[in-house]
Amino acid sequence: KRIGVLMGGLSAEREVSLNSGAAVHKALVAQGYDAVAIDVGRDLAAVLEREGVQAAFIALHGRYGEDGCIQGLLELLQIPYTGSGVLASALAMHKLFSKQTFTASGILTAPFRHFRRGEAVRLPELPFGLPLVVKPVQEGSSVGISIVREEQQLAPALELAFRHDNEILVEQYIKGQEVQVGILEDRPVGAIEIVPKGEFYDYEAKYTDGMAEHIFPARLSGPLYEKALQTGLAAHRSLGCSGYSRVDLLVTADGECYVLEVNTLPGMTALSLLPEIAAKGAGLSFEALVSRIIDAATL
Ligand code: DAL
Ligand code: MG
Repeated sequence: KRIGVLMGGLSAEREVSLNSGAAVHKALVAQGYDAVAIDVGRDLAAVLEREGVQAAFIALHGRYGEDGCIQGLLELLQIPYTGSGVLASALAMHKLFSKQTFTASGILTAPFRHFRRGEAVRLPELPFGLPLVVKPVQEGSSVGISIVREEQQLAPALELAFRHDNEILVEQYIKGQEVQVGILEDRPVGAIEIVPKGEFYDYEAKYTDGMAEHIFPARLSGPLYEKALQTGLAAHRSLGCSGYSRVDLLVTADGECYVLEVNTLPGMTALSLLPEIAAKGAGLSFEALVSRIIDAATL
């Protein structure tokens, strides 16, 4: 089967995706798969046909790649693809609908308010105080996110978030350990802890070597580690995700697991967490991980 590795694209995470895609393509070729790297543009349908692509490894992140758009195109073209389907992808990318789904499923997530461009955000009217977090509704890699600790930081935080989206969330800041659960073949494979050198695990910390410490397994007591794994799985299932994902959590000192989000197309770069979790939690090399993901590609 000829596999197209879809990468790049039009999102703010284009550079990350090019790195993920290159790593995935290399791993496929090294294992003897017939794989072609495709930088996704508006002519994608024509390129897929010209290249004779029979299955797609989606190594895109963010808008148009992680949000169901590409998945819908592949459905129409009847090309099997990796990971979650249209609806789960769209839900996971949209932090408002994700959070509503988590809440309806009994999964803990930080209290928040949703605002559209033009609506006023007034601190005294929020049901929680400072510090708080401002984020675009649909972004990845922490693009457009700020932590607001003092009142005068609110206006620039809103300005930044609205630069990336017409809708934002203002969330209560939850203090806790940053823990990420890797899901493979719809089962949790391990939980890793991130200790960023800076204020939080922002874009720079995610992609600069040495800017965040990765600790595997996450430093949680046995029962709390298990609770984190089960919370990750519950979040993955609640959105209807398929196959693999990486669920980002905050685990508080009193043992609560708050779900930040589900990444249906987690990073596959050298510094990315799902490959590290799969290696340390399930003994899977990067190549084996890539092969398990592509072999599960369906329509
Ligand atoms: N959005 C980035 C790629 C991640 O979740 O790893
Ligand atoms: Mg994300």
